[in-house]
Amino acid sequence: MTRVLSCIQPTGEVHLGNHLGALRIWVDRQAERDAFHGIVDLHALTVTERPGVVGDQTLELAATLFAVGLDPDVATVFVQSHVPEHSQLAWIMECTVSFGELSRMTQFKDKSAKREGEFISAGLFTYPALQAADILLYDSNEVPVGDDQRQHVEITRDIAIRFNHRFGDTFVVPELVTPPVGARVMDLQDPTSKMSKSSTTDAGCVYLTDAPAVVLKKFKRAVTDSDTDVRYDPATKPGVSNLLEILGAVTGRTPVQVAEGYTQYGPLKVDAGEAVVALLEPIQARRRELLDDRGELTRLLRVGADKARAVASATLERAYRAIGLLPA
Ligand code: TYM
Repeated sequence: MTRVLSCIQPTGEVHLGNHLGALRIWVDRQAERDAFHGIVDLHALTVTERPGVVGDQTLELAATLFAVGLDPDVATVFVQSHVPEHSQLAWIMECTVSFGELSRMTQFKDKSAKREGEFISAGLFTYPALQAADILLYDSNEVPVGDDQRQHVEITRDIAIRFNHRFGDTFVVPELVTPPVGARVMDLQDPTSKMSKSSTTDAGCVYLTDAPAVVLKKFKRAVTDSDTDVRYDPATKPGVSNLLEILGAVTGRTPVQVAEGYTQYGPLKVDAGEAVVALLEPIQARRRELLDDRGELTRLLRVGADKARAVASATLERAYRAIGLLPA
């Protein structure tokens, strides 16, 4: 059976871009794949400087993942720090990737530029090595992610190929999977930037926990452009194209098909907002229920970690043996 691995960081709140670019694909495919999904709390440490934050956000994120439809009886949902093999393999990955390759990562360049004058951790630089460990530990065939993770999956493939070449066939070389619609959801206020947890204003970012009135307002105020025809053309009409893309992703159509139904921006904004509200309402209700029983959430994560460790420890062992480390 095809093995799938993909993860999400417990930093900030989950937004519509995370959902349309990644989570809904994880849910849709969990039954036909052997699915592993990690809450990558160690990755969050690259930008965490206060105690007591990551743990709470990890549990809240677990509730969100189950609320969007990941079924703990079907998919393995685990917390990265509960599976120590991630950190162990990460070192080997760091020794298999070059300083030059890491220097070319656009996410490092963007994130470190945003933190100019602040503390920039070495972990922010070596982040892709830990991500490669996440992926390769599970012999993943597919990595379903949004478009912004393309470079990270590509470097993982390069690392796997290099390791296999040096030490013999050890890792499965994974394929990137992005959704046909919704792979890059843009900020509603700044449609040339991706929707992101670190957006400058909340107005452009729709959170999965936003109340219906807030969602509708964010869509009504979405930035479009000065001409009036509704057309899918991301290069010259990024705002309108983003709305078409979101409505298309939520209703299972292409943005071009969605555009056929509109001659004005106003109704498109209203329909996109209402479609997102309808998508989010059941998720929010389920999330509240799940958060009422934090003991059960913790139990589910423990079961997930046991299943994850069984796979991850075998792969780490294989990598140690391939290198020829002296057995303990
Ligand atoms: P993270 O936590 O930023 O995002 C989780 C997932 O959401 C997708 N995504 C988007 N998709 C469409 N439009 C957007 N605006 C948008 N914003 C985010 C991301 O592409 C991602 O799929 N480095 C990863 C976490 C990670 C990981 C891994 C992913 C760590 N290890 C192993 C896959 C496999 C990250 O920061 O995602």
